[in-house]
Amino acid sequence: MKVLKTKAEMSAVAESWRIENLDVGLVPTMGFLHEGHLSLIRIARQHADKVVVSIFVNPTQFAPGEDFAAYPRDEARDLAMCEAEGADVVFLPSPEEMYAPDASVALTENRLAKTMCGLTRPTHFQGVLTVVNKLFNITRADSAVFGMKDAQQLAVIRRMVRDLDMPIAIVPGPIVREPDGLAMSSRNTYLSADERRHALCLRRSLDLAEAMWRRGDSAADAVLGAMREQIAPTPGAVIDYIVAVDADSLEPVETLRPNTLVALAVKIGRTRLIDNTILNKKTP
Ligand code: PAJ
Repeated sequence: MKVLKTKAEMSAVAESWRIENLDVGLVPTMGFLHEGHLSLIRIARQHADKVVVSIFVNPTQFAPGEDFAAYPRDEARDLAMCEAEGADVVFLPSPEEMYAPDASVALTENRLAKTMCGLTRPTHFQGVLTVVNKLFNITRADSAVFGMKDAQQLAVIRRMVRDLDMPIAIVPGPIVREPDGLAMSSRNTYLSADERRHALCLRRSLDLAEAMWRRGDSAADAVLGAMREQIAPTPGAVIDYIVAVDADSLEPVETLRPNTLVALAVKIGRTRLIDNTILNKKTP
């Protein structure tokens, strides 16, 4: 496995693969890897001859006051995990390598990025789209894998690829959870033992939504209300949003139907967690 720290080295390797007609798969990450990230590496391998994992805590997607400085980092452990997973290259640039000091171009999505997490993080998706587009260009990737854990991020990236005719296939990866149901996240490390227990309220409220949907409750208001009521007694839990939206357009739905994304963001103490489920095709 090669570890490359400059854009020039990364592009040169990508170009040599291109000449050999090898398909390149990219897994963009911010590191502090867990089983969710590793599952994406395995999916990337199914779609590509060469797999690049990028590890870059992207400063432009954090607003002032967010957790950029505190974001967990463990380069040695991450590299060992990528190696064990059979990644061909880890691209590990510094912020100075990624961004010119006077960088003045950014990519904005004007609809899907305005809702849900965009309401409290209005600059977040601009940072994500800009860095993801840079990573696509630097690695010349033919496909890129993104986790459904960040359902809005996946939808916004798909919209960018569609609207700008980017020559890349976006492959979704299912949410990987801890045995007790908590969605894996690098940010789970912020949780105290008590908060870790209270964080289960996210998954439990999604279980409730799925159960209501299966038994035929399709009024979004009723289901979202029941989710809120279920979370309310959890100590330290403050709901940021709970929505039922179309998984592709992120437009709110009044009546639940297949491909409805039920998503929530909840603060547990100081840690903001997100989770979601997509209601399946089986008619209730
Ligand atoms: P990060 O939070 O490190 O996540 C990297 C990728 O792993 C994303 O596609 C995310 O959806 C996926 N992922 C995280 N937790 C997961 C889980 N429990 N199950 C499945 N997939 C999971 O998302 C980012 O980094 C950044 O915004 C990035 C796209 C790298 C741009 O900077």
